[in-house]
Amino acid sequence: MIVLVGCATAPSDTGGAPPPPTMSDPTARQFFDTQVYPILSARCAGCHGMNATATTGFVGTTAEATYDALTASDLVGDYTANAPLIRVMRSNHPAVASAYDLERIQAWLALERDERGL
Ligand code: HEC
Repeated sequence: MIVLVGCATAPSDTGGAPPPPTMSDPTARQFFDTQVYPILSARCAGCHGMNATATTGFVGTTAEATYDALTASDLVGDYTANAPLIRVMRSNHPAVASAYDLERIQAWLALERDERGL
């Protein structure tokens, strides 16, 4: 969805570049920071903190560190519901997240997938 916002100055020629995202149309990163990191921090950090030894660590002390770790890992897979991040949680894993939490994580992956043109 494209939202045009009134502008005080004349728009410059962007050469056909897409308009910058607005908050009503959050980027994947904004969605991660506001909707997903709080879930990971509250529900996963206890076992999956960066210093975890028994489990895979992917939750840092900031949204940025967590975003970087996750997107650099294999856990995001192809950014679909088939990503290990989702698949593992829906199968053989302690029940620590609600279905609603998983829906939000999946919504973030879908935004990433769109932005990355996958
Ligand atoms: C009570 C501890 C505990 C909590 C809390 C927990 N996990 Fe896990 N998780 C485990 C264990 C144990 C494993 C298996 C060891 C491993 O592969 O890291 C695991 C494995 C995983 C894996 C597979 C890791 C890999 O390398 O393949 C993913 C993905 C995962 N958990 C996601 C999550 C998410 C997302 C949350 C929060 C919503 C979460 N876990 C919360 C204990 C936990």
